Amino acid sequence: VDKDVAVVIGTGGMGQAISRRVGGGRALLLADFAEGTLAAVAEQLRGDGYDVTTRLTDVSDAASVAALADAAGELGRVTHVAHTAGLSPVQAPTAAILHVDLLGVALVLDAFAAVVAPGGAGVVIASMAGHMAAPLPPERELALATTPAAELLALPFLQPDAVPDPGTAYTLAKRANALRVQAAATTWGARGARVNTISPGVISTPMGQQELSGPSGEGMRGMVSMSGTGRLGTPDDIADAAAFLLGPQASFITGTDLLVDGGVVAAVRTRRAVG
Ligand SMILES: NC(=O)c1ccc[n+]([C@@H]2O[C@H](COP(=O)([O-])OP(=O)(O)OC[C@H]3O[C@@H](n4cnc5c(N)ncnc54)[C@H](O)[C@@H]3O)[C@@H](O)[C@H]2O)c1
Repeated sequence: VDKDVAVVIGTGGMGQAISRRVGGGRALLLADFAEGTLAAVAEQLRGDGYDVTTRLTDVSDAASVAALADAAGELGRVTHVAHTAGLSPVQAPTAAILHVDLLGVALVLDAFAAVVAPGGAGVVIASMAGHMAAPLPPERELALATTPAAELLALPFLQPDAVPDPGTAYTLAKRANALRVQAAATTWGARGARVNTISPGVISTPMGQQELSGPSGEGMRGMVSMSGTGRLGTPDDIADAAAFLLGPQASFITGTDLLVDGGVVAAVRTRRAVG
């Protein structure tokens, strides 16, 4: 096992771009729960010369995630882990969003803490949605950061009466991702590895396009047009940030979040009232 291994979980728009950026010269292990997408992306990347292995994985299932981490460890030294699997509010109901976007990240951080190589790094894709929400009380933040994964979805403020709709679930989950990564920085650090989140803005992937066509689409376009860059993000914008955070130039960066949103959050926070 003398290969370096890059694991990319979620083979949608961002997962594919990150695979191309960090997969070259390494064993590339791809995981997704959509069998067809996984096979098609693997075939394309193999055609382009990448050394690809696939594993059907449901990130909301602890056993499935543990098996993925074991498979990664068996391939070689796990130096790169990119977690991009997720569901957006137009794609899924509240419970599925909490299972995949919130619990799934906790499971991946735990499972890969046990196999990541010294000097390795991980990146979890959160969202600018986590930056838009009102601040959570400190005791809720601590609970989201430190409650064992198996008990996470039993927290009182994650119960159906407290999370009224998929949008609220998504925002909470994405805030939780950054908090979970803060806690994981210590456990990953004990192995000599680092881990961070990226919070993307509106990125033109299949998910991004679905959201733009949905009920929040108009508001999203409005935010993009008043942002510093005035444009949608591309999957490569996120892959560039991921390559930086996973690479040697980020060796002192761990447990933090990089907002890659083209300036949307900055514009929303500082917009003057019109009139
Ligand atoms: N596109 C955007 O505008 C945007 C903005 C902010 C954050 N994000 C986040 O970025 C990440 C990547 O999104 P994307 O735009 O590449 O989306 P995408 O829909 O193109 O890809 C997401 C992939 O995750 C997979 N997936 C979903 N549930 C899964 C599960 N339970 N187990 C395994 N795989 C699963 C899907 O099959 C899909 O291939 C997501 O976490 C998303 O919430 C996206």
